[in-house]
Amino acid sequence: MSEAARRPLILGNWKMHGLGADLAEIARIDDAVAELGVDAGLMLPASLMERAARQVRTVKIGGQDCYPAAEGAHTGGVSAAMLRDSGAALTLVGHSETREDSLSVAAKARAAQAAGLTVVICVGEGERSADARGLVAAQLRASLPPDLNWSRAAIAYEPVWCIGGDAVPDAAHLARIFEMLRAEAGEARLLYGGAVDGGNAAELLALAGVDGLLVGRASRSVADFLPVLEAAACG
Ligand code: PGA
Repeated sequence: MSEAARRPLILGNWKMHGLGADLAEIARIDDAVAELGVDAGLMLPASLMERAARQVRTVKIGGQDCYPAAEGAHTGGVSAAMLRDSGAALTLVGHSETREDSLSVAAKARAAQAAGLTVVICVGEGERSADARGLVAAQLRASLPPDLNWSRAAIAYEPVWCIGGDAVPDAAHLARIFEMLRAEAGEARLLYGGAVDGGNAAELLALAGVDGLLVGRASRSVADFLPVLEAAACG
């Protein structure tokens, strides 16, 4: 894999947080990303995306989910083209907090790429399991559209039992999962997500197969996000 493809990708997932008043914090994060030269994105609520996209210089703006259809009578739906039109360069699909069945995740991934977005497909086992590798492999295969363009895709492994908690899986567990993901996921960048913070980012990025991080709580302020970005800049 080329050097550029191995450059860590750090994504902050703001979930249902963020109002106009938070644009100043986004500007501070953007400055830090520019200064450190890190490949980074903020996955924002749709309501904030366009204002954020207009003001940032370096950090990419992304969506958190998209509707599988291009347009239509889908009240409340936000299509991939709408995300792109609002300034998004990428979007998550299949995050455990929005996940429906894997068929729908695959349809969303396809819609995202058709609209010109890079797609980050999230997978992860619901609870601690000795068979996590097999479960995640099956979930991943079912979540991939047949015509996926791997060069514009990333896979985020997010064990649901770690999201919102304070512990990450041990290195042996992560090694088993990332070895499988590398075999399944072509040239896509592989991210780890779930309880990432400034204290564990460097260690996670040093693990074989981990090309980046998907960060929830620790991405919402420059104070918390900076050490994660610094870990990626140093790696
Ligand atoms: P967390 O969330 O970093 O707050 O655990 C990660 C995510 O759900 O993407």
